Amino acid sequence: MKEKLQKIRERAMAQIQAAGNLNSLNDVRVAILGKKGELTSVLKGMKEVAPEDRPKVGQLVNETREEIERVLDEAKKKMEALVREEKLKAEVIDVTLPAKKNQVGHRHPNTIALEEVERIFIGMGYEVVEGPEIEYDLYNFEKLNIPEGHPAKDEQDTFYINKEIVLRTQTSPCQARVMEQGKLPIRMIAPGRVFRSDEVDATHSPSFHQIEGLVVDKNITFADLKGTLEEFARELFGAETKTKFRPHHFPFTEPSAEVDVSCFKCGGKGCRFCKGSGWIEILGCGVVHPHVLEMCGIDPEEYTGFAFGMGLERIALLKYEIDDMRLLYENDIRFLKQF
Ligand code: DAH
Repeated sequence: MKEKLQKIRERAMAQIQAAGNLNSLNDVRVAILGKKGELTSVLKGMKEVAPEDRPKVGQLVNETREEIERVLDEAKKKMEALVREEKLKAEVIDVTLPAKKNQVGHRHPNTIALEEVERIFIGMGYEVVEGPEIEYDLYNFEKLNIPEGHPAKDEQDTFYINKEIVLRTQTSPCQARVMEQGKLPIRMIAPGRVFRSDEVDATHSPSFHQIEGLVVDKNITFADLKGTLEEFARELFGAETKTKFRPHHFPFTEPSAEVDVSCFKCGGKGCRFCKGSGWIEILGCGVVHPHVLEMCGIDPEEYTGFAFGMGLERIALLKYEIDDMRLLYENDIRFLKQF
């Protein structure tokens, strides 16, 4: 019996030595100490041992068991420590590596230009308002003196939702909407997206932005319009900027004008930027037509006003010297980051 136990012990020690991982160590435990294990079956065979020898043999079996358990535990602990160490090594964090940077976007040139325009007009006491992009034909055309069959309707051919509803072709309907509210005096700008069925090229897009302006008060004259836009141009393009008012026609203003600013690139001498003329066109404007005031519920005998409208993209292209409008709609961060 003694020899048998000795053999079991030796074999156990050899197997523990040979075990390469925690699983095979557990296999050894099961094979020797488990329910059907070698040592367990020795214990089960105790009934065949003579009663007087039992205490001695029992003690021997227990000693063997304890020793094997002790060695098994030690091996297990050692192996677990090794596994932990390897895991730590594999998961090591190099704190000297550069951090991953969050990619943040960049403000769009349109936004930068709009905020600049808003800053200037807010400084002159204007309010910023907005109107709907999907608009009634009534506001987009009728109330602006553009009745059915008017040639200006053709020029601003647009997308019709139905006979009465269009994607607005201009921000000018905001004028009618604000006047109709009847809160006077009015000093407002209305920026926003507009739509026309134009083909895409370097200077056109079926969707672009305008900034509308409207002032209605007692004793407003063309002189107020001139003074306001001259000051605006100086603030936006520099103190040296000169302005030129060219007579023009818009159905909702009378008289009407187009405004050119002296080329801020060459100072008016003529260059590639202003196509040699020394002047750059920036907006349309005029004195609000009495009939428009009337249609919007304002007495033209008591109140007068002026209005203006400019293209936001045009301002952005000029200010940041971008020569193709399409770049503004691609949203390439490498492009946007330059402004
Ligand atoms: N709405 C005009 C356009 O899109 C621009 C314009 C001209 C607006 C004269 C005005 C104005 O307010 O007075 O071409």
